[in-house]
Amino acid sequence: MNSRNQAVFSNARPAGFARINRASWIDTLRVVAAVMVPTAAKGIIIRRPIMERLAQRQGLDTGAVKQMQRLVKKYGRAPLLLPIPFRPQLLILDPVDVSTVLQCSPQPFATATREKRAALAHFEPENVLISDASQRAELRPIHEHALASADRLHPSTARFKAIVDTELLEVLNGIGSGGRNELDWSAFSQAWFRIVRRIVLGDLARNDVTLTKTLNDLRSRANWAFAASIDRRKRRPFQQQLGQYLRQPGEGSLIGRLPKGSDFGLESQVAQWLFAFDAAGITIFRTLALLACHPSYWAKAVDEAKDPELDRPFTRNCLLEALRLWPTTPVILRELTEDIKTDDRTVARGTGVVIFAPFFHRDPELAYANRMEPSIWGPNDALPAIGFVPFSAGAAICPAHNLVPTIASLAIGMLSGTDVTLLQPSLTVDDLPGTLNHFDIRLRLSRQRVGASAPHAAAGFPPH
Ligand code: HEM
Repeated sequence: MNSRNQAVFSNARPAGFARINRASWIDTLRVVAAVMVPTAAKGIIIRRPIMERLAQRQGLDTGAVKQMQRLVKKYGRAPLLLPIPFRPQLLILDPVDVSTVLQCSPQPFATATREKRAALAHFEPENVLISDASQRAELRPIHEHALASADRLHPSTARFKAIVDTELLEVLNGIGSGGRNELDWSAFSQAWFRIVRRIVLGDLARNDVTLTKTLNDLRSRANWAFAASIDRRKRRPFQQQLGQYLRQPGEGSLIGRLPKGSDFGLESQVAQWLFAFDAAGITIFRTLALLACHPSYWAKAVDEAKDPELDRPFTRNCLLEALRLWPTTPVILRELTEDIKTDDRTVARGTGVVIFAPFFHRDPELAYANRMEPSIWGPNDALPAIGFVPFSAGAAICPAHNLVPTIASLAIGMLSGTDVTLLQPSLTVDDLPGTLNHFDIRLRLSRQRVGASAPHAAAGFPPH
């Protein structure tokens, strides 16, 4: 673990817990109904629009956090054992234990859980996320190198900027020519996946919408994990197509930084990147919605984009705020590799461990729980001491924890030549909702008024 990680884990205990409580059957049922079912129903691997709409309308995410607070009042902050038949789970309720679990992964808190194995087998059966400790030791460095995990700026950032600029310019000109200047998720996501394919695979993949469509079909099956059979007839051509790109990586692409001719199940490693960039696109779109309601923050992001410096700390922190408010990985899962003992209880090897991020991210005791406060992040992208872990933390931290904020800040910067208005939904800035359904966000992007300098104003993009 690097020194920065050690610093953020200042409060972790050595592997183990001082105390473990056990929930009653009725409370277990309540957690399953109010926390686990809605989270799974929204779609763990690919979001389901209908369920996300329902979650927003019914306030299901806010309800889940309230349910967790009720548990803390009743049982205290020690990890809570949910005696779910055949699949007991240990629910983490204290930020100190978040640190402990993440710092002590993958032993005794393995990243590869039964649920993840069942889901990811549908499209990336050899991925690092579901590998055992010895495979992980080989695979993890491959990801870290290709994604330049330790570097604030990836070595190909200038190329990424060129890609983001051209693709988003095309979007701006497209919505401008329609005269309405409206950007919805459908238009944004099509451009976003062109960006993703070029960054990950190379320019030749720009228009390979079939690849993305096939991956999305496989992800939809993966949402059902054990409950759906693996569609090998679809998975095979998907992997073959990835194999072709891997044999001829585009110049400056992420796959160009992978080892050559190896048997590391590279198709599975790259499938995870293509999948996970969806979450990045969702978060950029949510960040734009947030910034549209916070003119002073938008002005700061615009100022930052005028600077030729490609590291944009303020814009990165805005993205982290969107992730804190609406984490795209709401549950971080682990599985015990050995029995854990406290004075009066033994929790068996194989038990699941659940960190439900919104519980910590939206703790009502925090003055800023339900509003945007970019300053809380400082130079960090994880604050495990208070349970803020949108990219996780420790040895299994998302290896794109630097890359995603970089590309996101470039995309947001590209749009900084416009005025952004949130048309839908309506947000109350002092009381942001527990769910922000990205499928239904609509923005208006209009060229800036006279006097405002527009560093990236789109050629031909008409004024409002
Ligand atoms: C908003 C965007 C993203 C968020 C919030 C995010 C968050 C996460 C989280 C929470 C984990 C789980 C870590 C754990 O179990 O402790 C993870 C794992 C991972 N992510 Fe990301 N991720 C994002 C985008 C990406 C992208 C774009 C890539 C690749 C280009 C990527 C690659 C990975 C990989 C390979 C893992 C597995 C790491 C391991 O098990 O060692 N992620 N990510």
